[in-house]
Amino acid sequence: MCGIIGYVGRRTDAGVLVVEGLKRLEYRGYDSWGVACKTEEGIVIRKDVGKISAVNPSDFLQPSSLAMAHTRWATHGGVTPENAHPHVSCDGKVVVVLNGIIENFEELRAELAAKGHRFVSTTDTEVIPHLIEEEMKNEGQRTEDLGQREKENAFPGPRSQVPSPSPDFAAAVRRACLRFEGRFGIVAMHADVPLLVAARTGSPLIVGVAEDGYFIASDTPAFIRSTATVQYLDDGEMVVTDGQSILFSDLRTGEEREKREIAITWSAAESQKGEYEHYMLKEIMEQKQSIARAVNQDIDQIETLARAILDAQGTFLVGCGTAAKACMAAEYFFSVIAGHHVNFAPASEFKLYHRFLKPESLLIAVSQSGETADTLEAMKIAKSKGAKVLAIVNAEGSSIAREADYTLHINAGPERAVASTKALTGQMAVLLLIAYAMIGKLPKGRTRLLETAAAINDMLNPRYTEFIETIAERIQQSSDLYIIGKGWNYPMALESAIKIQEVSYVHAEGFAGGELKHGPIALIEKGTPCIALVGNDEVRTDIVSNAIELKARGGFIIGIAPARNDVFDEWIKVPDVDTAQAIVNIIPIQILAYFLAVKRGKDPDMPRNLAKSVTVK
Ligand code: M6R
Repeated sequence: MCGIIGYVGRRTDAGVLVVEGLKRLEYRGYDSWGVACKTEEGIVIRKDVGKISAVNPSDFLQPSSLAMAHTRWATHGGVTPENAHPHVSCDGKVVVVLNGIIENFEELRAELAAKGHRFVSTTDTEVIPHLIEEEMKNEGQRTEDLGQREKENAFPGPRSQVPSPSPDFAAAVRRACLRFEGRFGIVAMHADVPLLVAARTGSPLIVGVAEDGYFIASDTPAFIRSTATVQYLDDGEMVVTDGQSILFSDLRTGEEREKREIAITWSAAESQKGEYEHYMLKEIMEQKQSIARAVNQDIDQIETLARAILDAQGTFLVGCGTAAKACMAAEYFFSVIAGHHVNFAPASEFKLYHRFLKPESLLIAVSQSGETADTLEAMKIAKSKGAKVLAIVNAEGSSIAREADYTLHINAGPERAVASTKALTGQMAVLLLIAYAMIGKLPKGRTRLLETAAAINDMLNPRYTEFIETIAERIQQSSDLYIIGKGWNYPMALESAIKIQEVSYVHAEGFAGGELKHGPIALIEKGTPCIALVGNDEVRTDIVSNAIELKARGGFIIGIAPARNDVFDEWIKVPDVDTAQAIVNIIPIQILAYFLAVKRGKDPDMPRNLAKSVTVK
């Protein structure tokens, strides 16, 4: 939900740097963009609706050593140039970009309007620069009240090296932030001060430590070409930098915070499209290797966590969207393989489960980005009850990874397409591995998964994708599509629907096969495409019977299965991988969704109305 990048340092092409960085954050939102550069003529702002990918970085060549930029996913206020970030104060000197929501913006807006502030947008963000401006006006009086110590705490580091702003901009940002309600990350700059100031309560902000200066961004790809050394801003913290030194402090108390510099391992190359036209197809194909990487876990750690699940008084699995479907699949893994009951809830519904939580309970939070607001909220609820949290995440250094008691990384590498593909199969692989560890059969689980990875490697050849493309061609005009599954293929039927809906905009719905005759079968007409996800397991005959019921009503049956069946009008063959069947069965659907999107003229990497990382509740 929105991407932010700021740079301050010795380089004089800050505008170009932030535009290039923003292009690598476009997965976070892409309805409008904006750039602010501090130049000799003052702050120059350009913003517009549309994608940052269409903007030429060389249009921002004017000399500047301090700049910031924003790509938006609209929450408050429509998609208009006025609502695009950055937003500015009345005097045009305070400039702000936001990721998140200022929940009490209406009240603040009324208060500021009564003091004469004029607003030009309908966003919540615009109250921020106006309130900072107001705080700067009032600071002389407040400084006396708060005493000299606090003023020095606001930014003692660079104060000796840069002209001391008067009134103190960083202190004004801090005071303004203390009045905001909601989850947000902001970056601010001021026309008279060579500083970048940022604060976080909920939405991610990461500092990139480069040789020539500092970046502050929503995610590491924004600055990975300049540096792989980062410092993480935690919730309730702010940071101020003049490009030479940096000071982290507690937002509330102003107390200085020590930060470690951390080297991140994802290389810039890993987040490029390479030979592929879209990230989505590249990431689908990367499943040839990513499942084996997910399985490569520390054996002792997996065994300890398996024990923790067995010992917990109540284990709850939470995630959102596709990650939630990995959690649902894990319910089946833990039940069928380990005979152990766990509870799944979509993270956004977990609030109502708090009565079941005890200090001996365990929450397993599953997320690709590690920044999903609802999943973080579920973790907060569990922690407030004293329960422990295990995170299964992809993004290194993400909020979920850092806030959990135990973290397992799925090692899928950056996932840039909005549609989650390789992260899902990596999450399921780790959860399946844990299920085997719970019965003391971790080596068997590892072997099963490594064999599955090898089978996927063989399966994902050009002939295979071309065949699925022909099926996409055949059904691309259909307005509705239904997917059925049973057992661990049931959550995969739900996931299939998400995948097809989000990239192709075809109406798709997933069902437990046995539920059809209780209502949904009324939707089937002659030629309606119906996909049956079939395994070679104890429920195979049931799901085949459900496919026969659909065919009897005119359904056009596409079977995804290890073995052909007469009921299939089209058969997409998948390897027979026993307990890992759900992992392979979803892959042809990912390919089908991709080709449906492309054939229908949609951009599978940036579907309408969506963003990769959902950092608002
Ligand atoms: O980053 P997360 O795994 O926490 O994200 C959860 C969902 O937002 C995500 O899976 C979403 O449903 C994807 N667009 C699905 O492809």
